[in-house]
Amino acid sequence: MHIGTIGAAAVAQAIATQAIKAGHQVTLSNSRGPDTLADTVAGLGTGARAATRKEAAAADIVLLATPWVAVPKALAGLADWNGRILMDATNHFLSYAPDFRRDDLGDSSSSEIVAGLAPGARVVKVFNTVMAKGLAADPAEHGGKRVLFISGDDANARKTVADLVTSFGFAPIDLGYLAEGGRLQQLGGPLAGPYLTQVN
Ligand SMILES: NC(=O)c1ccc[n+]([C@@H]2O[C@H](COP(=O)([O-])OP(=O)(O)OC[C@H]3O[C@@H](n4cnc5c(N)ncnc54)[C@H](OP(=O)(O)O)[C@@H]3O)[C@@H](O)[C@H]2O)c1
Repeated sequence: MHIGTIGAAAVAQAIATQAIKAGHQVTLSNSRGPDTLADTVAGLGTGARAATRKEAAAADIVLLATPWVAVPKALAGLADWNGRILMDATNHFLSYAPDFRRDDLGDSSSSEIVAGLAPGARVVKVFNTVMAKGLAADPAEHGGKRVLFISGDDANARKTVADLVTSFGFAPIDLGYLAEGGRLQQLGGPLAGPYLTQVN
């Protein structure tokens, strides 16, 4: 599979590491251009390349891993999504310091807001509940596999993402639609905090 990333920091690099290990291709992008990612790409090795945000966003499946406040700009002006999958790893922090402040989402879940900014994309919320270190590490732990929650409004897209993270070695748990599952796993939801291992 060819995965594009919008954002190329801790989360994108963790997912790229797992994806490349599993035999996928990854195209990373950030806000400053591909030249600034030369060292990152070299560190990730064969299977990784850097490109513009627009090129990365044209991949079969795209990871959104930017600060929440940058999401509107990160998703602006991209080619038609045409049903391609957008994996949303973001957490809706407005700031981290001096205090953690969350955005007011009104009546929406955070990934429904993302979906509104990426018309035509099949948005799947995933990766947001595990710290980047835990996303990069071997998912085999405590005699089982580290759990990743998945939610999205398209069942086939959820299945594709579940298969992808299974190929990385994680144990996916499907929470259903963004309005319900997305709320459970998003920042402040009951499943945002606990690290779970599936043993069996
Ligand atoms: N860190 C964690 O442990 C963790 C775990 C789970 C989920 N999350 C969530 O995942 C998201 C990513 O977290 P992170 O820690 O990996 O990185 P981050 O510090 O939130 O994001 C930095 C990355 O976003 C890029 N970026 C910013 N604006 C952009 C734009 N307009 N277009 C393209 N790229 C843009 C930056 O590129 P430049 O450097 O060029 O500006 C940089 O590569 C956040 O929403 C975070 O809350 C984080």
